[in-house]
Amino acid sequence: MAETPSKKVSPTKGLRGEITVPGDKSISHRAVIFGSIADGRTEINGFLEGEDNLATVSAFRKMGVEIRRPSGGRLVIKGVGLDGLKEPDDVIDCANSGTTARLLAGLLSAQRFFSVITGDESLRKRPMKRLTLPLGKMGADITGRRGGAFLPLAISGKGLSGIRYGMEIASAQVKSSLLLAGLYAKGSTIITEPEKSRDHTERMLRRFAAPVRSDGNTVEIKKARSLKGCRMEVPGDISSAAFFMVAAVITPSSEILIKVVGTNPTRCGIIDILRKMGAAIELINVEDNDEPTADIVVRSSRLKGVSVSGAELLSAIDEFPILCVAAAFADGMTSIRGAGELRVKESDRIAVMAGSLKKIGVRVKELKDGIIIEGAGSAGWMAGKAGRVGGGIIESRGDHRIAMSMAVAGLASKRGVEIKGAGCVDVSYPGFFKYIDEVRLD
Ligand code: S3P
Repeated sequence: MAETPSKKVSPTKGLRGEITVPGDKSISHRAVIFGSIADGRTEINGFLEGEDNLATVSAFRKMGVEIRRPSGGRLVIKGVGLDGLKEPDDVIDCANSGTTARLLAGLLSAQRFFSVITGDESLRKRPMKRLTLPLGKMGADITGRRGGAFLPLAISGKGLSGIRYGMEIASAQVKSSLLLAGLYAKGSTIITEPEKSRDHTERMLRRFAAPVRSDGNTVEIKKARSLKGCRMEVPGDISSAAFFMVAAVITPSSEILIKVVGTNPTRCGIIDILRKMGAAIELINVEDNDEPTADIVVRSSRLKGVSVSGAELLSAIDEFPILCVAAAFADGMTSIRGAGELRVKESDRIAVMAGSLKKIGVRVKELKDGIIIEGAGSAGWMAGKAGRVGGGIIESRGDHRIAMSMAVAGLASKRGVEIKGAGCVDVSYPGFFKYIDEVRLD
C-alpha cells in the first residue's frame, strides 16, 4: 500500500454549524451497477466520488458502459441492458472495495464472457468463499486462490439456475451478489439471512422495476426481462455522518446540523446506540422516500457505557470503530460482543481499534468476538475542560474508518492524535479533514 501523509488532529472545544456529508457509499455502488445493466438512461445525483465507488465506475467502463461525470456528484449512465456488457480486455481491479468485488462476482457469473477480478492487498485477504460457494450452487464457474476463497477470482460466465439458500452470516454484500446472479438465473432465487442486513439492493431493484419480493429476512428474485433506467438522489451516508455525530457528542461545546442523511432502518443503529448511551440526537425534516432521510441535530452530551450485541450491531456494522471512540469517552464500561465479522473488514477492526485506543491511553480488553472498553469518563467536559484521554500516534493500517475514528478521538483528547497513513480517508470521504476544520471551534 502506498505511503500516505500523516495528519495530526488537535483537541477542540466543539463543533458548530451546518454540514452535508458525501453520498451513501453502498447506494452509490448499487446505482452504478443497476444503471449500467438497465435499459435507457440513469441519472444519479449525490453520487459519492470516493475511491471505492470510482472502482465500480471504472469496472463498468471497462465492460463498455458509457458513464459521464458532468459535475460534482452527478453521474449519467447510458444503460446497456441486462445482456449488453462486453468482455473486459483486462483484469478488473476493485482496489479496496469489498462491495465492488462481491457484487461484481455475482453479476459476472451470469455474463456470457470471461473475466478476472482482483483488489489491493487488504481486499485480497478478505473471504470470498461465502459467495463463491452459493454462486457455484447456482451453476457459476468461478475459481480463485485457495479453492475460490480469495481474490483474484476468474469467472467464466454461463447460464445459472435459481436456488433456495440460507446464509450462515448476515451480509448485504453476499445477499446482493446472489440477487444480481438471480436476476439472470432460471426460475427464482430465494435467500434467507439469519438477521436482516442492509436492504439497499432490494429497494433499488424495486426502483428499477425488477421482480423482487422481501418478507422479513427472506428475499426472492425472479429472472428479469429488463430493468428500467431512472433518476435518483443518493442521500448522505449515515456512516460518514457518524464521525461528526460522535465528534459533536464527545466535545464540550458542540451543536451541529447534518443535512439529508439516509436513515434506512437497516443502517441507523448508530443513532439508537448513541441515544442509549445518553447522546442528544434529534431527527428533523424526516422524509419517507425509496430511501428515507432526515436532518440530524447533535449536541454535546454526557455518555454512559452500554452493552451492544451482535444483532443490534448489524445495523451499525461499519460504525464499530467510531462507536469504540464514543465508548472511550463515556462514563463506565462498554462491551461490544458478537462482532467476529469485524475481523474481516478493511482491516481486523477489533484488533486495530483495541491497539489504537491503547496507544492513546484508553484501557481496553480485546475479545475474540468483540471488545470491552473502560470509558475514561466525561467528567470535566461540562466545564469545557479537555477529556481525560491523553492522545498519541496511531497507524490507520490503510483502513479509512480507523483513520477517521481516531481523528475524532483526537478532537476530544488532551494532546491530540496523529494518524499515520491518513490518505486512506479518500476511500469513502474525500476531504474529511478539511470538513472537520470547517466546523471546529478552535
Ligand atoms: C456493505 C455491506 C457490509 C458493510 C460494507 C458495505 C454493502 O458488508 O460492512 O461496508 O454495501 O453491501 P458485509 O456485507 O460484509 O456485512
